[in-house]
Amino acid sequence: MTGRVLVVGASHAGVQVAAALRDAGHEAPVTVVGAEPHLPYHRPPLSKAYLAGAATPDSMALRPATYYETAGIDLVRGERVTTIDRAAGVAVTGTGRELAFDRLALAPGARARRLTVPGAELPGVVYLRDLRDAEALRGRLGTTRSAVVVGGGFIGLEAAAVLAQLGVTVTVAEAGERLMARAVTPTLSDWFAGLHARHGVEVRTGTAVAAIDGAGAVESVTLDDGTTVAADLVVVGIGVEPRVELAEQLGLTVAGGIVVDARARTSDPEVVAVGDAVVLPHPLEPGASIRLESVQNATDQAVVAASTLLGGDREHTGVPWFWSDQFDVKLQMAGAPTSCDQLVPRGSVEAGSFTVLRYREGRLVGCECINAGADFVAVRRALAAGTTFAPEQASDAGVRLKTLL
Ligand code: NAI
Repeated sequence: MTGRVLVVGASHAGVQVAAALRDAGHEAPVTVVGAEPHLPYHRPPLSKAYLAGAATPDSMALRPATYYETAGIDLVRGERVTTIDRAAGVAVTGTGRELAFDRLALAPGARARRLTVPGAELPGVVYLRDLRDAEALRGRLGTTRSAVVVGGGFIGLEAAAVLAQLGVTVTVAEAGERLMARAVTPTLSDWFAGLHARHGVEVRTGTAVAAIDGAGAVESVTLDDGTTVAADLVVVGIGVEPRVELAEQLGLTVAGGIVVDARARTSDPEVVAVGDAVVLPHPLEPGASIRLESVQNATDQAVVAASTLLGGDREHTGVPWFWSDQFDVKLQMAGAPTSCDQLVPRGSVEAGSFTVLRYREGRLVGCECINAGADFVAVRRALAAGTTFAPEQASDAGVRLKTLL
């Protein structure tokens, strides 16, 4: 019997586990506990619309407060679970509150990796992971004239775009040789470097931060090539680290994240885990495993975890996809971010609407689409169906991809 379910973590993944349990007719108590005081909210707008002043905590709520009441989901906010006694079926929060459970779902998420250079603790050095971070950053924008963004990944570039549009002088310092290297091909990295440059952002790749300087608050940043950049704000977006402490405490297998199978079961089959903290079987590459930091993965996996908790045998098979908004550009990606041996371009780079199709051993494995939503949808459908497009046909932008399905 499934009994009382405790979900640890109240973001996209955790809330979706609870909702999916209720959708499936589970009637026993469900508790979701989260460390943040707010109603669970959508994170993607934090580095986009919220930063730009076009979204509010209310507009970002995953579900209205009434949802939790109506669905009979006990939402415990502002409390972080610090210890779990599996045998006794009790989790304890930092305030000493005890939460009893029969079955456990871990959705602890990830924390922003911290910058450790001298001066990194100065006021004016900010991160962008949760609503509190975004509020703090937004509160500084009125007085910010120049900013250094550390890290040219999604967070860094989305923040850089918003700051530049607000009239802030922005320098991006990316330690790697190209932008968003973990997620996109060199073609796209170069194109985004050009996009940011056209909007006045100075992009410096192969550049790490050596120190942050200032008397009482940030005044400048010293880069590792010895140059100094004036800045009254430093936004750090250098990746995340999965929160694995509770899993380790429970003796679960952890290897770069909490290891789960295709049914979201940890090494203890009675405990499921979902979301950014989890390493799962790669949905498109048999035998490989991957940690996916995306909303879509969190919610898809949560539905699988709920099924598992209820004794079902549903498996996670979704095609990974991601998106990013920078300036007026929508970047959409589908498939495996890495490992391809052929790139097939289609569309017009000059007109700012194009796609790069990624192939491995002659088969389609993914895409990167710039303002090309129809291509993105067609590739997702092809990958989900396990089909491919012949490269010579797919490269012809006059042929709609969906007609090749
Ligand atoms: P990221 O891993 O995407 O990018 C971090 C970047 O920082 C990398 O390019 C890396 O080379 C660079 N870096 C690392 N250490 C550095 C250092 N010391 N100095 C300079 N550069 C350094 O992580 P990011 O951008 O922080 O994003 C965090 C999370 O938010 C991820 O889970 C990401 O997927 C998610 N996110 C997703 C978005 C999307 O899907 N559109 C949008 C925003 C965030």
